[in-house]
Amino acid sequence: MGGMTFVDIRDRYGITQLVFNQETDAALCERANHLGREWVIQVEGVVAERSNPNKNIPTGAIELLVETLTVLNASEVPPFTIEDETDGGDELRMKYRYLDLRRNAVRKNMELRHRLVMLVRQYLDQQQFLEVETPILIGSTPEGARDFVVPSRMNPGEFYALPQSPQLFKQLLMVAGFDRYFQIAKCFRDEDLRADRQPEFTQIDCEMSFVEQNDVLEIFEGLVKYVFKTIKGLDMTEAFPRMTWAEAMRLYGSDKPDIRFGMLLNELKSCTEEGLFTVFDSSEYIGAICVPAAATYTRKQLDELTEFVKRPQIGAKGMVYVKCEADGSFKSSVDKFYTGQQLASWAEVCQAKPGDLLLILSGETHKTRKALCELRLEMGHRLGLRPKDQFAALWVVDFPMFEWDETVERFFAMHHPFTSPKPEDIALLDVDPGKVRANAYDMVINGVELGGGSIRIFDRKLQAKAFEVMGFTAEKAEAQFGFLMSAFQYGAPPHGGLAFGLDRFVSLLAGLDSIRDCIAFPKNNSGRDVMCDAPSTIDPAQLDELNITLKPIK
Ligand code: AMO
Repeated sequence: MGGMTFVDIRDRYGITQLVFNQETDAALCERANHLGREWVIQVEGVVAERSNPNKNIPTGAIELLVETLTVLNASEVPPFTIEDETDGGDELRMKYRYLDLRRNAVRKNMELRHRLVMLVRQYLDQQQFLEVETPILIGSTPEGARDFVVPSRMNPGEFYALPQSPQLFKQLLMVAGFDRYFQIAKCFRDEDLRADRQPEFTQIDCEMSFVEQNDVLEIFEGLVKYVFKTIKGLDMTEAFPRMTWAEAMRLYGSDKPDIRFGMLLNELKSCTEEGLFTVFDSSEYIGAICVPAAATYTRKQLDELTEFVKRPQIGAKGMVYVKCEADGSFKSSVDKFYTGQQLASWAEVCQAKPGDLLLILSGETHKTRKALCELRLEMGHRLGLRPKDQFAALWVVDFPMFEWDETVERFFAMHHPFTSPKPEDIALLDVDPGKVRANAYDMVINGVELGGGSIRIFDRKLQAKAFEVMGFTAEKAEAQFGFLMSAFQYGAPPHGGLAFGLDRFVSLLAGLDSIRDCIAFPKNNSGRDVMCDAPSTIDPAQLDELNITLKPIK
């Protein structure tokens, strides 16, 4: 431009404008004209104030009048533009993740992740927590998700498993008397992936001795408040609300409620008279949400919502609506079955005002609540009630200790097998295990399960009882958890803890849609690392060394 060449030089800290002036040094300017994208260069010159500052970038007030230029390395043209708004699709960016990481937006997430880890270490260190590393090659305990396993060459036919979490080790550290432990721990779970799930992820894993549930909640609520204050400048002065699991399921249809907005679930079974609408008659549960000022929804919009709830992952069979018209009348997809008065009684239960819209689902209680939860979140999203810069945290407490698995017909630990029951529910272990509540808790922010933990059983007899309920024989319990059980014979203190998902924490703070965006080298949805093409087949010689023969792939 007018005998000048401008070059943007980018490093980790931002972009600075370089100026090459034809008049001062024509040869240098000519060399600058041949620089390419992503070349690595070294320049020397004079920092000068820009006559036309760029207010959009932090270094926009200055430029560098270049005197010397060294090309340290040329570059191929990158497969996508390294800019905030890139032309590279997801797959391409993951394949060249090292180039993607050069982009501001991605690097910023990594910087935030670093900052969070530093703050966590600082806070926990001040609270006397000791950072201890636990092993990655451990024994398999297939009680939670599926394990990733690693064959052992030196022990043919035997396998290590990668830890789903350091759970057993942190409990052993309590037996060891370490009192307060934490670890920024890599965890591995072979489960179906989603936006907030990776096969390998990181936990802020913690455990404490001589504590009760309240102590744990207070310490870690303090950690979260400290992080939000330091990173977001947010003063979370109030204590986080505590909601029982049963209440969360009843009011939000979820154990991780987004409490930034209302639109709670209302139960209509008791006010839908029998014999009128067979779908409702045969439903165990009928629930409604009241969408404010949405009675104006068109047929098309309502059909769209019906399609939404009928998606396989939501699984409702259909949706009933009631429009509470501004004139006090009601219009509904079921008004040939119910009188205006009957519809009015539903509106009253839902505390609907004229102009509101009731959306109603029915069916089996648990499934219908879950579907209503999805519908509520969708409506919250559509109405702009879920802003990414507003945060609402709570503790969900009193989880059921066990959940029944229909397919194998036995109880599983809802949290994990060492979670202690609430003392007042211990008697129920013998008569109605499904009703036993656990000293287990989750921290939920904006509908995301950020962390979870429990107070542990440290009494051998109670542990044996819990194993019995889960259908473990004494031998099986011994084979899987024998080392922990025997450790408990040697003076185990009462203890409990929790783990936060670090990746989820960063995503929440950064307002990301997927935790992949704050992981340097993430896996895609089929668990592949497309950059280094893993997993991959291995050499027959390697298999042989491991004493492994592969079956033909089905
Ligand atoms: P839990 O299984 O609830 O508890 O895990 C704790 C937290 O880890 C995060 N998390 C994940 N993040 C990304 N990808 C995944 N696949 C994934 N799975 C879990 C979540 C979750 O809240 N040992 C216990 C903790 C304890 O009892 O102390 C445990 O692992 O944010």
